[in-house]
Amino acid sequence: MDRFVPRDDAALALQSHRELANHEDPSVIASRAATWQSICLRDAPYTGLMENFDAIVIGAGAAGLFCAGQAGQRGLRILLIDHSAKVAEKIRISGGGRCNFTNTGTTHAQFLGENPNFCRSALARYTPQDFVDLLKRHGIGFHEKHKGQLFCDRSAQDIIDLLLAQCELGRVQRWQPCAVHDVACVDSLYRLQTDRGPVQARQLVVATGGLSIPKIGASDLGYRIARQFDLRVIPPRPALVPLVFEGSRWPDYPALAGVALPVRVSISAKAGKSREQAFEEDLLFTHRGLSGPAVLQISSYWQAGLPIRIALTPHRPGGESLQAALLAAKSVSRRKVANELAQYLPARLAEAWTLTDAKLQQAICDVPDKALGKLAQDLSQWELLPSGTEGYGKAEVTAGGVDTRELSSQTLESKQSGLYFIGEVVDVTGWLGGYNFQWAWASAHACAMALSRSSADA
Ligand code: FDA
Repeated sequence: MDRFVPRDDAALALQSHRELANHEDPSVIASRAATWQSICLRDAPYTGLMENFDAIVIGAGAAGLFCAGQAGQRGLRILLIDHSAKVAEKIRISGGGRCNFTNTGTTHAQFLGENPNFCRSALARYTPQDFVDLLKRHGIGFHEKHKGQLFCDRSAQDIIDLLLAQCELGRVQRWQPCAVHDVACVDSLYRLQTDRGPVQARQLVVATGGLSIPKIGASDLGYRIARQFDLRVIPPRPALVPLVFEGSRWPDYPALAGVALPVRVSISAKAGKSREQAFEEDLLFTHRGLSGPAVLQISSYWQAGLPIRIALTPHRPGGESLQAALLAAKSVSRRKVANELAQYLPARLAEAWTLTDAKLQQAICDVPDKALGKLAQDLSQWELLPSGTEGYGKAEVTAGGVDTRELSSQTLESKQSGLYFIGEVVDVTGWLGGYNFQWAWASAHACAMALSRSSADA
């Protein structure tokens, strides 16, 4: 038998919000969030009765927590469900434990997807400054590290506590761990069968993220729900991921593991899209191939069969070309080529590179000018064909996802009325550097506003 619980009293939520807002002391907020977390983690008894909410959010990650908290604070009765025991694990491990939670330079230009303009609206309505203001209100310290990337001073846990506090303000109910077994839409109500029994709501938000790092809870549930309601999904693929090389012309990757250097890396998309995408960042050699920010960035644009190009000496002191420098060295030096090159490259890389050509294993004064010219050119246009990526186990994000043509860019609602998709499950993928969290906050915020408007209209 269905039991319909009346809508929660928005005044209570508001009162709780005001109480907490008066407590600017972050330790009070964190301790209340922790208490609330332990209450929520306790197994709720299964009554067998159908519970009713204004909206159900599946996925207690960055986007789900933020959306639930925002919608709850607008008086909606929200249920947040996650199959993992732990909350927001990706936030916890992000940014080396300090969470690169936004980027001050965020625009739509740092995102990829079939429609790169789709994210414009949500990003414009919830900006990095809005999230920074929220952190300031909660007394969370942060700093800029590199190119607009903002990190917590202390720990990523500060962001998790902030989101939990926001959910507490919104009196969000959280079922965790709790698996969702079935989703159906009957008479404009979304009915879910879960570990804790059936539950229903007029609005359903899917915030289940991508497929990256399956060992901490990633699943394809979001894509399955989309397909169930005849919404297209752009095939997901690992992104911001190390690239691997097998049988390439460079046999010495394992020997170079750990070598890092600043480079310019670029790729040109095929099939008529000749625009080059390039990044100037650090490159890192690994046991199986290449990683580091430069390669993670370019990996999001890489497709099987496409070569990448790396300039191993992108900027040289004084702007002098490498070829000119090597020819100048030839006239005054008797050192081996590798030793001369080690002024411009890590010594292990210089040594390994010159080993590939017998002419380069002698004193620089004995090497023909043509060979030095070719060496300089090869180093500035190293073209190589990745054989694959390290896969979802190592990918920071998943590119592809719910096709944005199925969604409203204003509200994130899909063509299936009352069904929303937010965060990484959508075909919107940010560069490395805090952009993916900013998309999570912005899409969650746009959706929460829409949930609230739609509930008020109902
Ligand atoms: P997110 O993955 O955060 O949350 C999805 C939630 O859904 C999870 O809690 C999961 O358990 C739950 N879920 C999945 N399937 C479910 C199911 N079947 N039933 C119920 N629940 C289910 N970005 C950035 O901007 N700055 C950074 O510093 C980093 N660093 C970083 C490091 C590492 C190692 C990784 C893997 C990723 C990053 N990222 C990042 C990317 C960032 O973490 C990511 O884009 C956001 O967490 C996406 O937020 P979502 O809420 O969409 O998904």
